[in-house]
Amino acid sequence: MVIVLIGYMGSGKSAVGRNLAEKLSLKFVDMDDFIEEKEQKSIPEIFRDKGEIYFRKAESHHLEALFAGSGDMVVALGGGTPCYGSNMEYIQGTTDKVVYLRASVEELTARLEKEKEHRPLIEHLSDSELEEFIRKHLFERNFFYLKANYSVKVDGRPVETISDEIISRVV
Ligand code: S3P
Repeated sequence: MVIVLIGYMGSGKSAVGRNLAEKLSLKFVDMDDFIEEKEQKSIPEIFRDKGEIYFRKAESHHLEALFAGSGDMVVALGGGTPCYGSNMEYIQGTTDKVVYLRASVEELTARLEKEKEHRPLIEHLSDSELEEFIRKHLFERNFFYLKANYSVKVDGRPVETISDEIISRVV
């Protein structure tokens, strides 16, 4: 069984994924960590040294390598992974268990104000610019996120509750 978690930065994909994998005794893969290992650089270093276009190409390439080489697992994708090239079609071709962790603009803004560092797309924004940026960006990205098989609300809910909901609905 392959469960794929998608959603905006700060929606909790990694924390929920880790918890879910533990409960289901499955392997957990964090796509950002996987890319960092393959590229031998951190995500901010890749953006800084090679630019976003290089990162997006590498992301698509490593996505296919990950799915081709692995069996059962829970995968937390990067926030942008489903939104570029034909990544979403590719993901949907490999599993029917794609779960969107859906957070509101307000929740994401509150969470990301505290976690802007190491996130190249938002680290240059002031707190007052952040909410407007997220509002527009999430609107564009929801086109892709809403293609998921399941959508789970995350606002104000602990990781445990979210992974229990995923287990009851998806597994
Ligand atoms: C990105 C999200 C990040 C990381 C990169 C780009 C995005 O992952 O892949 O900084 O485009 O939304 P997280 O969603 O795990 O922060």
